[in-house]
Amino acid sequence: MKKIIIFGASGTIGRHVTRELEREKHTVVKVGRKSGDFTANLEEPATLDALYAKVGKFDAVVSTAGEVAFAPLANLTGADWARSFRSKLMGQIELVTRAVPFVSDGGSFTLISGITGDAPILGGVAATTVNRALEGFVRAAACELPRGIRINIISPGLLEDSAAKYEGYFPGFVPVSGALVAQTYKRSIFGIETGQIYRV
Ligand SMILES: NC(=O)c1ccc[n+]([C@@H]2O[C@H](COP(=O)([O-])OP(=O)(O)OC[C@H]3O[C@@H](n4cnc5c(N)ncnc54)[C@H](OP(=O)(O)O)[C@@H]3O)[C@@H](O)[C@H]2O)c1
Repeated sequence: MKKIIIFGASGTIGRHVTRELEREKHTVVKVGRKSGDFTANLEEPATLDALYAKVGKFDAVVSTAGEVAFAPLANLTGADWARSFRSKLMGQIELVTRAVPFVSDGGSFTLISGITGDAPILGGVAATTVNRALEGFVRAAACELPRGIRINIISPGLLEDSAAKYEGYFPGFVPVSGALVAQTYKRSIFGIETGQIYRV
């Protein structure tokens, strides 16, 4: 039985991961901006400090949250780039660095990137940039985290549940099931590997 914080628990991916962890009777602390057991905003690091202070000790932090702008390169504004960095990139970096004092020895972090990190799509240049940066962060942070704490990142393909929402953005991509993505989170949380990019 582990105590696991999940950012984005109410989301498309978060719901699959939460269901799987609760089915195994872990204590799941659900977090979102507006939803969950606790609220915190990845774009406001002070809210992360407040969250961790309230939750106390835990074994794992899982992220299925963070937003990026989708638009062709020519249409992306400085504000779009800044928001993408602040939310998905810095939000996930901050949720790791600020949690380290509270995570158990041998605990873990599991972040999220996405297939655009490997396969650029029209309108996905900010997503590709942020996902690659996150994967670099995970590889390097794994080498420095103390007390046997591990860190990995999940890079899912387009989810079956999201195929309609992203209609036209991913031509020829085969959608993946939420159940498979949730199993991959379990590999990261309960396995022994660190610094890994799990492509689903
Ligand atoms: N869906 C896909 O096909 C797919 C594929 C590959 C990668 N991804 C990546 O996976 C991540 C999640 O995607 P999704 O489709 O599951 O998203 P989603 O359905 O929109 O859900 C997002 C979740 O994250 C929370 N959230 C969003 N911004 C937040 C913030 N600033 N602070 C705290 N919580 C925040 C939301 O909670 P509140 O509404 O309460 O804030 C919600 O629970 C994204 O980074 C996306 O790029 C998705």
